[in-house]
Amino acid sequence: MRTDTPQPVRLVDYKAPDFSIPDTELDFALAPETTRVTARLRMERQTAGVPLVLMGERLKLIRVAIDGRALEATEYQVTAETLTIANVPDAFVLETEVEINPSDNKTLEGLYMSSGRYCTQCEAEGFRKITYFLDRPDVLSRYRVRVEAPKAAFPHLLSNGNLIETGEAGDGRHFARWEDPFFKPCYLFALVAGELDVFEDSFTTMSGRKVDLRIFVDTGMAQRAAYAMDALKRSMKWDEEAYGREYDLDLFMIVAVRDFNFGAMENKGLNIFNASLLLADPATATDLDYERIESVVAHEYFHNWSGNRVTCRDWFQLCLKEGLTVYRDQGFSASQRGEATARIKDVRALRARQFPEDSGPLSHPVRPSSYVKIDNFYTATIYEKGAEIVGMLRTFVGAETYRKALDHYFAANDGTAATLEDFVASFSAVTGKDFASWLQWYVQAGTPRLHIRPEYDATAKTLTLHLRQQTLPTPGQPDKIALPIPIRFGLLTEDGKPMPFDGGKTEALHVFDTETAELVLHDVAGAPVLSALRHFSAPVILTIDEPVSHAFARVRGDADPFNRWEAAQGLARGLILDAKPDAAHVAAFAEALDACLNDDRLEPAFKALILALPTESDLAQMMNPIDPAFIHARRVALKAELSQRLSVTARTLYDQLDPPLTFSPDAGAAGRRSFRNALLDLILAGFAHSDDKPALTNLAEAHFARATNMTDMVGAIQALMHIQGLPYQRALDSFYLHFRNEPLVIDKWFALQAGCPHPETLKRVESLKTHPDFDARTPNRWRSLVQAFAGNQSVFHDPSGEGYAFLTEQILKVDTFNPMTAARLVEPLSRFRFYSEPYTGLMRKALETITATPKLSKNVAELAGKALEG
Ligand code: TRP
Ligand code: ZN
Repeated sequence: MRTDTPQPVRLVDYKAPDFSIPDTELDFALAPETTRVTARLRMERQTAGVPLVLMGERLKLIRVAIDGRALEATEYQVTAETLTIANVPDAFVLETEVEINPSDNKTLEGLYMSSGRYCTQCEAEGFRKITYFLDRPDVLSRYRVRVEAPKAAFPHLLSNGNLIETGEAGDGRHFARWEDPFFKPCYLFALVAGELDVFEDSFTTMSGRKVDLRIFVDTGMAQRAAYAMDALKRSMKWDEEAYGREYDLDLFMIVAVRDFNFGAMENKGLNIFNASLLLADPATATDLDYERIESVVAHEYFHNWSGNRVTCRDWFQLCLKEGLTVYRDQGFSASQRGEATARIKDVRALRARQFPEDSGPLSHPVRPSSYVKIDNFYTATIYEKGAEIVGMLRTFVGAETYRKALDHYFAANDGTAATLEDFVASFSAVTGKDFASWLQWYVQAGTPRLHIRPEYDATAKTLTLHLRQQTLPTPGQPDKIALPIPIRFGLLTEDGKPMPFDGGKTEALHVFDTETAELVLHDVAGAPVLSALRHFSAPVILTIDEPVSHAFARVRGDADPFNRWEAAQGLARGLILDAKPDAAHVAAFAEALDACLNDDRLEPAFKALILALPTESDLAQMMNPIDPAFIHARRVALKAELSQRLSVTARTLYDQLDPPLTFSPDAGAAGRRSFRNALLDLILAGFAHSDDKPALTNLAEAHFARATNMTDMVGAIQALMHIQGLPYQRALDSFYLHFRNEPLVIDKWFALQAGCPHPETLKRVESLKTHPDFDARTPNRWRSLVQAFAGNQSVFHDPSGEGYAFLTEQILKVDTFNPMTAARLVEPLSRFRFYSEPYTGLMRKALETITATPKLSKNVAELAGKALEG
């Protein structure tokens, strides 16, 4: 075990900074191993009588001066993480010169090199690897930056803000000077230098200003930026219309890089993207890629207001920018792709990633109260649950008041580093109401359980809803209080028609904020079916005391498409987790699906979603203790049975959905492709029991051979996974040969194989890790194998423990040079207590191996330690 346990940072210890830095001048003389960074910081004292303590890591200090006077070695003190100067005036200019080594920086944090280019990643605390600074988000400064490098190899020299000057610097070098007029925290600083192709366009803002838009990509790839550019312009327009937010600089740039720890970064005026979330064309990107590109481009752009103009006081407030920005990008995606399907996908993601996190040892409030490494808190809880809280506030106050509250928030906090209290205060300001109870959603961890028992009184024509809520204890929070839960609901007849109540209403909203309550509805003509939590109006686990026939009624006709899908998922969960499900229920479920598939009023995208059975990890959350092998076997069995029962419908619809000749990435076309691929998957799920295996093999192989886009190729390979053997291998081989020079597609090739739910996968993954194209130093490639594998429930949880051993080995390997990325894969091991034997003991052993490793990073140590503590 580690003994040098690092001290956590605590929210209650927050103190305003002792010094401010109104102006920052940076000069970069770029060289791969010896980059010189000169910083001139105009500083002003805010607290009397304290020394100046600057943060800095991995910096070689060359010179430090105050107001032009170089300091003697005795006048300052340098540690591995700080530079302290005991005596400084109240107002002064601090000059430092440091040397750094970008080419040796494999943490991908600070200034590093990717494909021969310089680039930066400063959020959360990477700026301190570039120069000595007050690296905290409440220190806002105006930046002027000069970048110098050899002209031939680094023709583009980019930083934040406006380009002021370019010129020759002798010796084949050139320079550029950039000025960002907006005050910003240092985590939004960015610099890129290198050879890049640019895709250009422009956007005229609502006040008539023309903004130049430039997307920089690998040479030869400019056309693959067209979709991202289109998404950017739509985002800019939408933010003006939906939030009244206008872009503020004359230039907006995005750079795509291949080596990146996360998805993308909102640096002021110079977003940096993981290339996998930016480049797209039909041959190499799936519809899911297009969808994610659209949403991430929007997300980073929206940060310009929610994050940059109004930033965070400290990192505990991270969800102030992330939760709000996710909520904003979800609204954008819904507007582009359809409310219902967008909501279903968001909830599916919330349940897949946030619910498990919130029920295990890594559970934390949306506003945590302490952390060791803030990098570990870029979690589904902060992003996705944070977004849900904003959504609940909007549901509660209504769309119009929500807009007023947000206008108030942006106006009142522009140019400042704000807190969640400031955000919630804007809702009070425009409504005059107290929102203190809503703030509790940020403070209390754990997913509330909501239980509803409906009771109908035929004589009084009333329906009483007996409501109960409970949140189980989470680490550090044994006692929970009741939270305000907005419940949007309606009533249905047994055949799924709307049933009015309370004098003709078809839908209502009730905010339930006590431990128990009774809600009485009047004028209810007959015994109704309850449709509660419509549009998933709160991030809770809902159970209703009702006969199974009610769920069927909602599948048949709930006016709320979300609840229609939800009811089908619930039925499927029941049928899978029941070792001997009622044959009549299986038949009825198949019939209900059949009706949906043949319902012309439903969109293909929705049909694809309703056909997708709950995932194995989704099902695991309903089982105690979890038996991954049982879940897998039962899910496969139900799918095979549905395949048989729906084979005629599936085949007819599949044949009707022949793809059009020209590709369009729009939501309608993508929906048809996803439905067609879902049908193919359903058909092939019957392979093992089929008496015409050659016909099914032909169908899947023809799908592959005739695919004209990446979505259909991937769909075919997934279908071939049901067949395995030669047909599967042939497709993989041909895919590899075809795309061997396309790194982003080879990532998919690794991920597809690692995600294949077949016992053979374990061996395959072992051999893929020695494949010449495997590279643990490139996070995209590493994740494509290791993350996809760790998410492959039945294979990862092999009773031999080999899956855990593989993950452990990989985490420890990557931890030696990129702790931030390594730590993100600790989570799959963390919930070991919920599993049955032998899984639980083997997972614990894997975690113990990790924590016993010498020189473990703080990142991995924090998460693995918490996981073992429970
Ligand atoms: N702020 C980024 C976003 O959500 C997230 C991010 C990108 C990030 N790179 C990072 C967070 C590196 C921590 C470290 O849009
Ligand atoms: Zn973000």
